[in-house]
Amino acid sequence: MVSNIKKIGVFTSGGDSPGMNAAIRSVVRTCAYLKVDCVGIYRGYQGMIEGDFKPMDARSVNNIINKGGTILKSARCKEFRTKEGRKKAYEQLKSEGIDAFVVIGGDGSFTGAMIFNQEFNFPVIGIPGTIDNDIFGTTFTLGFDTALNTIVEAIDKIRDTASSHNRLFFVEVMGRDVGHLALNAGVGAGAEEILIPEENLGRERLLESLKRSKRSGKSSSIVIVAEGDKTGKNIFELKDYVEENFPDYDVRVSVLGHMQRGGAPSCYDRVFASRMGVRAVEALLEGKTNLMVGTIANELILTPIDIAIKGHTKIDKELIRVSDIMTI
Ligand code: F6P
Repeated sequence: MVSNIKKIGVFTSGGDSPGMNAAIRSVVRTCAYLKVDCVGIYRGYQGMIEGDFKPMDARSVNNIINKGGTILKSARCKEFRTKEGRKKAYEQLKSEGIDAFVVIGGDGSFTGAMIFNQEFNFPVIGIPGTIDNDIFGTTFTLGFDTALNTIVEAIDKIRDTASSHNRLFFVEVMGRDVGHLALNAGVGAGAEEILIPEENLGRERLLESLKRSKRSGKSSSIVIVAEGDKTGKNIFELKDYVEENFPDYDVRVSVLGHMQRGGAPSCYDRVFASRMGVRAVEALLEGKTNLMVGTIANELILTPIDIAIKGHTKIDKELIRVSDIMTI
């Protein structure tokens, strides 16, 4: 591969997601394999602005494939949203001799990379790292699979209490404005109802469904609520509403929170991260830029970053139907 790129920076940005370390490892080792220097940039765009860099070789990423979080740390950086901040970052990259970078993050991180590319003609490739699965151009984002497994494990435990005490549990899961985590975890955990922002069917219908399932012989229930769902003002208000209108159940709320982002990545995420890291470095050396690596039908593909950010991911209607059938 003949390329002008001699040194590649890699960093993680925005909310961490399981598998980010495996992606860093892959980028670093692919650089070593292809004899390109690699530099880790700490704390995302903030570290880029401050010149927080560290050269990385193949051995510097030993024993991280199985670790959650990100060894390079992550941050959401306000200064990078300003032209001045981006200029500082550019100067730091140039003085370190970095010719291109791989950003591992979500839509906010990609927006920053795209603007940076346009302003400085700087080669960038994105790896979609977020548990939310809200990026277009890839069936899955890195960390989604692990987060689903974490959520399902947590709900299995909550189910023990729900069924021992004949309780109704509202469980809030992450996902920002989208319901992919909620829908998939809901089907995987056998939830009675799944409330997602993409399908607001109203509180009355929820009540009817809970009453119906009670009549059909269920003594406990789990309702998964995506954090972006608007069926109630919030999950606690929804609980109050159900308690007032359907006193048969003892109702509890469980907000799973940031535990959903932690933990060792699943095998799927480790393999996925390894594949994307290789492709990201290769793409840069092929002269490609402003693209995101993703997977569709298990094939790696490159999508322009602006499309990845702006395109809307669609909720899986077939899965909604499956869930409806399973909750008969
Ligand atoms: O984007 C990942 C995510 O975990 C969302 O699901 C959630 O809304 C948000 O980040 C939480 O962000 P923070 O860690 O800044 O509270």
